[in-house]
Amino acid sequence: FSLFVNFFCVLAQEVLMPKLNEASYIAASYVKFLESAGARVVPVILKKQQPLTHLLCGKSPNLDPLPGGSASLTTSGYARAAKIFYDLAIDANQRGDYFPVWGTCLGFEQLTVLTSGKNLLVNTNTSNIPLHLDFTNDSRLFKGFPAELMKDLASEPLTANVHKWSISTHETNEELNNFYKVLSTNTDGRVEFVSTMEAYDYPIYGVQWHPEKNAFEWRKPYIPHSSSAVKTTFYTAEFFVNEARKNLHRFNSEEDERQALIYNYSPVYTQLNSSFEQNYYF
Ligand SMILES: *[C@@H]1O[C@H](CO)[C@@H](O)[C@H](O)[C@H]1NC(C)=O
Ligand SMILES: *[C@@H]1O[C@H](CO)[C@@H](O)[C@H](O)[C@H]1NC(C)=O
Ligand SMILES: *[C@@H]1O[C@H](CO)[C@@H](O)[C@H](O)[C@H]1NC(C)=O
Repeated sequence: FSLFVNFFCVLAQEVLMPKLNEASYIAASYVKFLESAGARVVPVILKKQQPLTHLLCGKSPNLDPLPGGSASLTTSGYARAAKIFYDLAIDANQRGDYFPVWGTCLGFEQLTVLTSGKNLLVNTNTSNIPLHLDFTNDSRLFKGFPAELMKDLASEPLTANVHKWSISTHETNEELNNFYKVLSTNTDGRVEFVSTMEAYDYPIYGVQWHPEKNAFEWRKPYIPHSSSAVKTTFYTAEFFVNEARKNLHRFNSEEDERQALIYNYSPVYTQLNSSFEQNYYF
């Protein structure tokens, strides 16, 4: 496909203890996840005290995977940038300009806040646990997954959950329920929560679990690495990258494109300082 069709804007997050040139980061696993399915990545770099309007990836954002992490859902630069991209995506899609958005974990939670205008999250005991998925509805997202893999996903703990907050399946917020279809649920034994969702009328997707970790993160014993677990990474990435192929956003020039690409940065092996193997710092 053409040179320009597949840029992904991945939002960086502020680090807890910022150093010079290390104010924000993106875990390299999110980048590899997208690259493994044939995409190129543009980091959306958050700098304190800077207006966020400069973040629009050469004014041609293709889409907006919101990576997981621990930033505030209302006050962080991550949250403010997410709102800018979310509003852009809603507006673009309403004009017939296909603009996919993906939220993983914190990104999922952020999507629910953006759609409902409220924080509806409830505490769940799901911090460090691999789970199977209880599928509830047909979907675009899982449609292309092989039947064998769907069977494994429904019966084996292939999805790493690393979150304390969730949306209960009993949530009655109308904005949320009218906007998203519940694709899978899970339970912590006490609260049944939404683990995968897709918007009915927009190419907007959310997963509470971490598809990128299975293939690329090794720090935690609960991350599954079986053949089916790694296939889950790749089929999820392939689905989302294919969504991005449906739009033709591009940079204004090849020079703008070169300057924006993540290839301008190198991932750093974090050794013992992070729960991620490699991070990009900005
Ligand atoms: C949380 O879940 C784990 C299993 O994943 C369990 O061992 C632990 O007892 C649970 N904690 C609470 C407070 O329910
Ligand atoms: C989708 O799943 C939810 C949660 O299980 C269920 O309440 C709802 O009825 C399902 N919707 C459809 C269209 O099947
Ligand atoms: C990890 O943290 C220690 C202590 O702050 C620091 O000396 C070391 O350079 C860090 N290593 C990496 C790879 O960031």
